[in-house]
Amino acid sequence: MRRRLEEFASRTGFALGFFDELASTNDEARDARYMNGAVVIAERQSRGRGQRGNSWSSAEGMNLTFSAVLCPAGLRAESQFYLSKAVALSVSDTVDSFGIESRIKWPNDIYVGDGKVAGILIENDLMGACISRSIAGIGLNVNQTAFDPALPNPTSLALQKGAEFDRSEVFERFYGFLTVRCKQLDGGD
Ligand code: BTN
Repeated sequence: MRRRLEEFASRTGFALGFFDELASTNDEARDARYMNGAVVIAERQSRGRGQRGNSWSSAEGMNLTFSAVLCPAGLRAESQFYLSKAVALSVSDTVDSFGIESRIKWPNDIYVGDGKVAGILIENDLMGACISRSIAGIGLNVNQTAFDPALPNPTSLALQKGAEFDRSEVFERFYGFLTVRCKQLDGGD
C-alpha cells in the first residue's frame, strides 16, 4: 500500500507522511511541515484517539487510520460544521461508491445499518475568528472482520461485502471526494 499511495500522492500533488507506527496520526499531522491537503497515515496507532476522550482501536494493517490537513480559506469558527460536513460526506461518498449504503450520524460517525464503519475526529486551530488549520482524523474500518467485543457495533467494508478491499483504492476514492468537497467549501465550484 505504501508505494501505491506514495505514487498517488506525487501524481496528485499532496504531501504524504506514511508511517508503520505512530501514537496518533492527528498528533503527527499538527507538525508545521504538513500544509493544506497533506495526509498522515499510519498502519498502527499506539494511542489512537476517538471522540469524547475515547480511544480508537484498529487492527494493524487492516484498515485506514489517517489525518488530512485542511486550511479552509476564511472559514469562521462558528461555521466549523461545514468542515465536518465536507469530511463526513466524503467518507460516506467513499463507502457508497463501493455499493454499500451508508448513513451519517452527524457530525462524526458513519454507519452501515446498525454498525459503525468509520469515525471522525476533527481538531481545529483558530486565528482570530477563523479556522486557520484543521486536522481531520479518520478511522475507516476496511478489512478487519473480528473486533473487540467491548466495542459497540463495529463493522467494516469487508464485513458488509464479504470480500477484501484494496485499501489504497479506498483511500484514493476518499481523497478525490474530499478534494471536491473542500473546493465547494472554499467557494471554488
Ligand atoms: C470516533 O469515532 O470516536 C472518532 C475516531 C477517529 C479515529 C481516527 S484514526 C486516525 C486519527 N488519529 C487518531 O488518533 N484518531 C483519528
